[in-house]
Amino acid sequence: MADAAPWDRYTAGDASALTATEFDEGLAAVTSLPEHAGDFKVPSLRNAGLRPRLMHTVEMNALAAAIPSYFDTIPSPDRDKIPGFGNYAFNFTGNDRATLAVFIGRGLTDPRVRDEAYPFDRPTLASEQPGRTGNPPASAKRPPR
Ligand code: HEM
Repeated sequence: MADAAPWDRYTAGDASALTATEFDEGLAAVTSLPEHAGDFKVPSLRNAGLRPRLMHTVEMNALAAAIPSYFDTIPSPDRDKIPGFGNYAFNFTGNDRATLAVFIGRGLTDPRVRDEAYPFDRPTLASEQPGRTGNPPASAKRPPR
């Protein structure tokens, strides 16, 4: 059987298997106002260090990747069509950035959330209980911390 990743199907002749990655216009897609292009809800950074994926695009998998993106982004206004889009001008040293990652990762993490302790616990599915025979469905497995 042929490999079936989108790339494999594309190279086999299915032009629809891959599409151009279109820029998410954010709030502008709702309001149709150009000045809202690229505007997204600002999420709380509480417990952000516990999240296995960051940003609405889930394009980052760690604070260590998210923080540099505020300093080292490459503006591409032609692609993004955001008026005035550019780099943030935070004048942080490498040490400041590392401190920021530790602050968000530890200083903003509630151990009750990390440990799923009351009141942040949840019911356990029968399939997750110890001693249960058979494998839990893949969807019941927690992401690695
Ligand atoms: C050094 C300063 C900053 C740090 C360390 C920082 C850190 C982060 C992190 C870790 C996330 C991911 C949160 C998640 O997905 O749960 C995030 C998302 C976000 N931040 Fe920041 N942030 C900073 C400055 C700013 C500023 C100045 C703005 C707005 C002017 C901003 C707006 C946003 C928005 C809109 C998102 C969500 C983006 C999306 O969903 O794709 N941030 N930030």
